[in-house]
Amino acid sequence: MTSKADQYDEVRKQIAAVIAGETSRTARYATASCLLRDMFGERFFWTGFYEVDPHQPDMLVVGPYQGTMGCLRIPFGKGVCGAAAATGETQLVEDVHAFPGHIACDSRSNSEIVVPVCDADGQLAAVLDIDSTAFGAFDAEDQAGLEAICGELLTIA
Ligand code: SME
Repeated sequence: MTSKADQYDEVRKQIAAVIAGETSRTARYATASCLLRDMFGERFFWTGFYEVDPHQPDMLVVGPYQGTMGCLRIPFGKGVCGAAAATGETQLVEDVHAFPGHIACDSRSNSEIVVPVCDADGQLAAVLDIDSTAFGAFDAEDQAGLEAICGELLTIA
């Protein structure tokens, strides 16, 4: 049985191979959300990106995703995605219902991990949001694997 670390390493390499040379951020986000969902299946109930709105820099707007319909906009500081955007730090939440200001796009989500995505200048460009229907679905290994993927998503030339 393949370990979770190996799965993350494998999907990181798949994403890197597909996005090399691609100039569109949308294409990069779409590729990552698709391949992550493909690798982890039902364990990832919602897998996708919220991008910093270039016209309103304290606002996230939904980007490419796999899953049920997501909310369109999330202000910085609101909910788990907003906390990741405001702090620039990964949010690992075992029970989203206990998280202050949590936004319930789909009431079946019970835990989530949200990882910031920065551009080559180190500016926040988006956050990767992964939700699960299970409580406590994500751990430090998920965090390490997803941070490695997000760390190179916009920097691979
Ligand atoms: N749960 C997120 C909102 C986005 S969705 O679940 C797709 C949050 O509180 O940031």
